[in-house]
Amino acid sequence: MNEVLFTCQPDAEKLALSEMREHARHAAAFRWITAGVGLLAAEREFSYWSSAPMVYVRHVCPVDAHIPMAEGAAEQARRYILQTLGSPPYSTHTAESFAVQARTLGPLGGGTKGAALDAIDQALADVGVKRASGAPDWAISCAFTRDEIMLGISHVSQNKSPWAGGCRPFARSGELICRSEFKLLEAIEAFDICAPHGGRALDLGASPGGWTRVLRNSGMRVTAVDPAELDPRVAVDPLVEHIRTTGQRYLSDSSGAPFDIIVNDMKMDAELSADIMAQAAARLKPGADAVLTLKLPARDWQSRINAARNILAKSYVIRDIRQLFHNRCEVTCALTTHGAALPPDA
Ligand SMILES: C[S@@+](CC[C@H](N)C(=O)[O-])C[C@H]1O[C@@H](n2cnc3c(N)ncnc32)[C@H](O)[C@@H]1O
Repeated sequence: MNEVLFTCQPDAEKLALSEMREHARHAAAFRWITAGVGLLAAEREFSYWSSAPMVYVRHVCPVDAHIPMAEGAAEQARRYILQTLGSPPYSTHTAESFAVQARTLGPLGGGTKGAALDAIDQALADVGVKRASGAPDWAISCAFTRDEIMLGISHVSQNKSPWAGGCRPFARSGELICRSEFKLLEAIEAFDICAPHGGRALDLGASPGGWTRVLRNSGMRVTAVDPAELDPRVAVDPLVEHIRTTGQRYLSDSSGAPFDIIVNDMKMDAELSADIMAQAAARLKPGADAVLTLKLPARDWQSRINAARNILAKSYVIRDIRQLFHNRCEVTCALTTHGAALPPDA
């Protein structure tokens, strides 16, 4: 059995656990460590989880060692890292970069966390591995609870998310129009969305303009559709055309050259939004990407997602549907139109 920690939004715990269990039918043990973080012992190899299709599970990291939170814990952690990285298979990878991804799960008792992290740093220095300055090759996952330190080492390509706990942080710039910007930035990164420089984007439900700003920062011209006002910082931009109408009306009344990307963050029922996106597919180039958030009601999340998925599948290749770190009561869909991709000026 291999132990893993998985994370999800606290209000998606039940759904995330059933996703994990669906992929690990012979799981031996399970417990919640804190809200949105579960520990599961399953028959699966760790590498299985990175490509397991799951909507609600944000991150999965390995747990290879449990060190009781007691005197000497820091020294035990140091010795564990020293021994593990000093032996095969890790000893052949010491030229690659390592990052320590530390998370505190629930309240801690004493000051062992700082001492343990210092000890792990010391072990890494002793082994002579490179510390990652940007994206690491390897992650040392350290989860601290009141009772124990859980340690695991994995290649970042095998982690569901390259970020500790799947929490993708973005620096808050002074120019931020709204926090929604983080949703699109995270989706572009997580789903490898193509927003080509010099291309044309359609932003449905664009107000106040956060996603429009993200697309403009990628060098795209944006048609922003929303009955509501745009923030003056994007409204005055000559490469933003604000059309003050609904998405439905825009799609039925307008025509013109196809877009390179369509994004849709309209606040409405998930099935209606999917219907509108299905209609919008005809306005996208072949092989072009679309990003859609599905707003979820208080209950029945899965049946609403399934209904929207069935609608979208008729017009798009559904690349992924996930509840990303910056999603609240919603999920993000990554879609691509059928056919081979064309360059932005085609
Ligand atoms: C969550 S906000 C979008 C935020 C936006 N993505 C941003 O980054 O600024 C939802 C928007 O959907 C718009 N909306 C709701 N129904 C719509 C419809 N039928 N057509 C167009 N926009 C709609 C609302 O006016 C609201 O501005």
